[in-house]
Amino acid sequence: MLIRRVTRRWILPDQPREAGQALLLRLSAKVLREKIIEGQRFYLGFLDDVLVGVSAMRDDSHLVHFFVGTRYQGRGYARQLWLRTLQDPVRRANTRYFTLNATRCAVSVYMRLGFRATGPEGLSPHGVLTTPMALTLPALPGKRA
Ligand SMILES: CC(C)(COP(=O)(O)OP(=O)(O)OC[C@H]1O[C@@H](n2cnc3c(N)ncnc32)[C@H](O)[C@@H]1OP(=O)(O)O)[C@@H](O)C(=O)NCCC(=O)NCCS
Repeated sequence: MLIRRVTRRWILPDQPREAGQALLLRLSAKVLREKIIEGQRFYLGFLDDVLVGVSAMRDDSHLVHFFVGTRYQGRGYARQLWLRTLQDPVRRANTRYFTLNATRCAVSVYMRLGFRATGPEGLSPHGVLTTPMALTLPALPGKRA
């Protein structure tokens, strides 16, 4: 519900209508459950018992979902959630290079988190308007990249 609500409010206004509706379908509980079974890892950020943010990582390297509830935005929760989300792939797979496809409203937030655009804004295969972005972490001393 959080993901779909935030998507309707912040993402759909920048998207072609049909692509936006298809995106909502891909964010249904049923589809997300299938993604979890396929191996996508979800991270849930709680403030006491209230869910305030959700992220999801695929292949230990690609951030597929990143949402903070509207009333909790602008308080640093996305930064906290991102720092928690990257811990597992770094530990498990020594990931140093992360990618994502940013919706327009999130590009400047990702830049604050250290991501840089790797190409121009364009339509994804699903027809969603996004900007490809990437982040390279510095190599750890003594570890192979
Ligand atoms: C993108 C999103 C997750 C950011 O969540 P948030 O909790 O508001 O972000 P934070 O408060 O942690 O801010 C993270 C950084 O971005 C900066 N920032 C936040 N909003 C910003 C804005 N509108 N413009 C520029 N910078 C912004 C903050 O200053 C902070 O940088 P700092 O720590 O160096 O000061 C949230 O706005 C969201 O869910 N948006 C709608 C869904 C979406 O577009 N998700 C991404 C899909 S690809």
